Amino acid sequence: MSRPHVLITKRVFPEAIALLDPYAELDYISTDDGLTPAELLEHARGKQIILSQLTDRLSRDAITQMPDVKMIAQIAVGYDNIDVAAASAAGVLVSNTPGVLTDTTADLAFALLLAAARRIAEGHNYIHAGRWKRWTIDLMMGHDVHHRTLGILGMGRIGQAVARRGAGFSMRVLYHNRTRLTPEIERELNAEHVPLDRLLAESDFISIHAPLSDATRHLIGEPQLRMMKRDAILVNTARGQIVDEPALARALREKWIAGAGLDVFEHEPDVHPDLLACENAVLAPHVGSASVATRTKMTVMAAENALAALAGRRPPNLLNPEIWETCSFQRAAGG
Ligand code: DGY
Repeated sequence: MSRPHVLITKRVFPEAIALLDPYAELDYISTDDGLTPAELLEHARGKQIILSQLTDRLSRDAITQMPDVKMIAQIAVGYDNIDVAAASAAGVLVSNTPGVLTDTTADLAFALLLAAARRIAEGHNYIHAGRWKRWTIDLMMGHDVHHRTLGILGMGRIGQAVARRGAGFSMRVLYHNRTRLTPEIERELNAEHVPLDRLLAESDFISIHAPLSDATRHLIGEPQLRMMKRDAILVNTARGQIVDEPALARALREKWIAGAGLDVFEHEPDVHPDLLACENAVLAPHVGSASVATRTKMTVMAAENALAALAGRRPPNLLNPEIWETCSFQRAAGG
């Protein structure tokens, strides 16, 4: 019987290759360039599974032109690059890598929050530029984090992990989420569910942890930024498109808010030039989950999702489990 074929669209950790290699013919694109849409279609021909990354555009149009593909195993928790509804309609399983990156991403959100509040990047640049000549009583004053109000927009796993970090800093925690947490979890996190307007008006720090969707695209634009406190700090480690970047750059430049800590951008890897000019913005290159341990776990998890499907077992992290019973892997396994 011929072995299944798997496309790996970009460089991954060797652990994933070692897992998949005994069970499948691999078309491993071992560079960091990423495939163009045309190359992606070309390479997808004859492949049952694609191991994808967030830079691969798997739109409705692309998916309908990949009749051989039966599964997309994404190496990320976010999957806004994949049209899951189109995949389901085409009988294509989609999986992601939730859970393993929760604490690592929450750590980075808190690092950006602290760095923006205490002006760490500004201080670093100031010293490197040779501008530190003497200590003065008001040199590089920032904002306290402890005992202040943390507003969390999107209270899934990562939002909750950030709330726990806030508790360690004796912060009051507000959150806004489509669905309210259970009273037990609210009590455990000491977090209060509030409408978005209240979150914006009362928080000293707002940390975004919502997925990108039509409902969250540009959820934070000029009106919302103007509702925030003048000494507030906005942190985004979710997706850049949730924030209107030019509006944020104006808010930072004209001091409607005090600062921002950003790991994600609207048009990565491009950053809006006005944001680059804002000293009060701490910027990171989409590294929320980028610890050695976590990125390795994510890669292995995606490979394990793929292996499960190949073995006729339901992949543990399916985003469209409703099509499992009728998908081709299940049928091939005689389920
Ligand atoms: C994700 O997993 O969605 C992150 O953005 C990349 O790790």
